[in-house]
Amino acid sequence: MITLGIETSCDETSCAVIKDTGQILSNIISSSLFRHQPFGGVVPEIASRHCLEQIDTVYEQALDQAGITESQIDLIAVTQGPGLIGSLFTGVCFAKALSYRLQKPLVGVNHLEAHIAANFIEHEVPETYVGLLVSGGHTSVTYFDGSKTTLVGETVDDACGEAYDKVAKLLNLGYPGGPIIDRLAKEGDPKKYRFTRPKLKDPNQFSFSGIKTAVLYLVREQESVTEQFQKDLAASFQTAVVSWVVDQTFRVAEEKNAKYIVVGGGVSANSALRASLKETAEAKGINVLIPPLVLTGDNAAMVARHGYDLFARGQQASLNLTANPNLQMNLA
Ligand code: KG4
Ligand code: ZN
Repeated sequence: MITLGIETSCDETSCAVIKDTGQILSNIISSSLFRHQPFGGVVPEIASRHCLEQIDTVYEQALDQAGITESQIDLIAVTQGPGLIGSLFTGVCFAKALSYRLQKPLVGVNHLEAHIAANFIEHEVPETYVGLLVSGGHTSVTYFDGSKTTLVGETVDDACGEAYDKVAKLLNLGYPGGPIIDRLAKEGDPKKYRFTRPKLKDPNQFSFSGIKTAVLYLVREQESVTEQFQKDLAASFQTAVVSWVVDQTFRVAEEKNAKYIVVGGGVSANSALRASLKETAEAKGINVLIPPLVLTGDNAAMVARHGYDLFARGQQASLNLTANPNLQMNLA
């Protein structure tokens, strides 16, 4: 079975071809990041125009690299939301037109669920697992009990990636902040600054806006933002965020008696988070699945993979499918 995945939820335009559940034949990603960098964040209008300009070429490249013709596509899976409305529309309209022209089934995919499903290209879906989603727009811990997913906790304010991006901005480091802080943190002192975790009513929730404000005050106290200050702050901030995310996820896994933790989203590219998750997993005898780096950010292979599962479970979209920028995870 050949599934075509289409992902245009934000600043990436991606088409992928996967065979059955496990073999990526192609996964083309065209990013418009360089166009947003001068503005210090994603500009929705620029992102959607880029998707519109790129989608035909990216689709053709995905077929070429996979070595297939259109007629070999069995299923079309497209990101329906959440994301930027203009970007989402590009992918959804393209997918619907293709489905109509090729007379092939169409399935709408939730971008957040797809980030978790990125792991199921290389690994089988565990019977039960705790899901950790850490992206630019979302941070949540969920539990899959074998038939349904429930929300255990999420951020009450900024998402994890958003906190990285905002802190990088405060330190004049550029956009996106995650990879830059990740790199700088390796050269800084992680104990130089301490950030206390706020006490939340629900211990399963996260809140990253307080850390961001603490960083703001530290920056204001400086006469000048030196390179050493940037490095120490990056290291201290990253240590605070990573330890919180890891502690909380493993606590939930232990409470649920889960044998697997499945991680997804752009921040799962973070080297400290990956290392800490793996180290803790080994110490606690819990398995952790983290996608290979290429599948941590937005990509269509994860969309194709999740679409395949949805279709196998009997889901199919009609040509009335529409983009939903506020689409929620399918939770029980
Ligand atoms: O999943 P994603 O590509 O887009 C959304 O669906 O939001 O995530 C993008 C986020 C950005 O905030 C970016 O700074 C962050 O992922 N990110 C990282 C790293 N690479 C990307 N954060 C920390 N460390 C990284 N290495
Ligand atoms: Zn994403």
